[in-house]
Amino acid sequence: MYLDNAATSYPKPEKVYEAVLHAMREVGASPGRGGYRRSLEAGRILFQAREAVAGFFSISDSSRIIFTQNATGALNLALYGTLVAGDHVVTTSMEHNSLLRPLYALRNKGVELSIITAGSDGVVSVEDIRRAVKINTRMIAVSHVSNVCGAIQPIKELAELCREVGAFFLVDAAQSAGYLPIDVENMAIDLLAVPGHKGLLGPGGTGLLYAAPHVQLKPVIQGGTGSHSTAEEQPQIMPDGFEAGTLNLSGIAGLHAGIEFIRERGLSAVFEHEHVLLNQAEQALKNIPGVTIYGPSDPSGRCSVLSFIASGVDSALLAAELDHGYDIAVRAGLHCAPLAHRTLGTLPGGTVRLSPGWSTTSEEIAFFSDAVVQCIGKIRKSA
Ligand code: ALA
Repeated sequence: MYLDNAATSYPKPEKVYEAVLHAMREVGASPGRGGYRRSLEAGRILFQAREAVAGFFSISDSSRIIFTQNATGALNLALYGTLVAGDHVVTTSMEHNSLLRPLYALRNKGVELSIITAGSDGVVSVEDIRRAVKINTRMIAVSHVSNVCGAIQPIKELAELCREVGAFFLVDAAQSAGYLPIDVENMAIDLLAVPGHKGLLGPGGTGLLYAAPHVQLKPVIQGGTGSHSTAEEQPQIMPDGFEAGTLNLSGIAGLHAGIEFIRERGLSAVFEHEHVLLNQAEQALKNIPGVTIYGPSDPSGRCSVLSFIASGVDSALLAAELDHGYDIAVRAGLHCAPLAHRTLGTLPGGTVRLSPGWSTTSEEIAFFSDAVVQCIGKIRKSA
């Protein structure tokens, strides 16, 4: 049983597999790299996927969407493509290393960094962020939803703050895209980093960055774009100048199919399904003596994941018991977000995290909950 959809979603809807195979088997060519019909068909697949992404996030100009390898690639492009020495960035303690590590590296190159500690429930205070803003604050960067405890951040208020102080608003939608509605124009998001392989149900190796029309990005990868071939400098044309090299066309075709699947099912129905399952898991886990659940106490403040520990039980050992004894896949440990665990008080062992998906059933959550009881009992007995 797979309960690690926050790492990558599995299984994918059947039409995702079909779209990947179609692009690989029936099309096969690279978009923008030839005038022959196969390459033109590849270009159509790419364009249609970009349009589908645009529709999904209410982006009026799909050329502002750059396909990347994953959300990490999108975040690196957003940061390296906009920041220069002397800029100041405000971020939070709930961030993933995909945001923190490039920021630490940029700090070594003269970018100033303020990391605001969230509350013990994982929710960041807009007022704390406001207090950190300085004259040179160029960007406020936050994850929409914590990958550790599911806390939903107040991004509407943070967007307003960014508008007020003239800073770019970078949102890491790694755990929210495909679960929560995101309308970049209404929500005043300047830069949106999205993985293709999580909530959008696309294959691994897909992701994207949206950059609003007023954001002047610098390319961070130089190479062939299929256009302006005599230019020595990287063309800064959106999106081609930022997608140097051969794209993962079959992955992008699969991502398009994943988005179509969510649209057909309805985003709110996908969210509600997952929300009901998380609530069911929470109720069951709460009844186990010594279990603590992290994140906002009100389930409406959480999304995508549920993190917990059991007193006297090593989280990694519990996850291993669930895997080997019951064939249940959950992710334990620090989830690449050490500061989030420090904020929640779960260092050094981290938590056990479950994240159901579109195909997870209530029966599976009941089986998971029973298995947790058995594994905890076994581990405590052998201690
Ligand atoms: N960021 C992913 C996770 O939280 C990989 O598991």
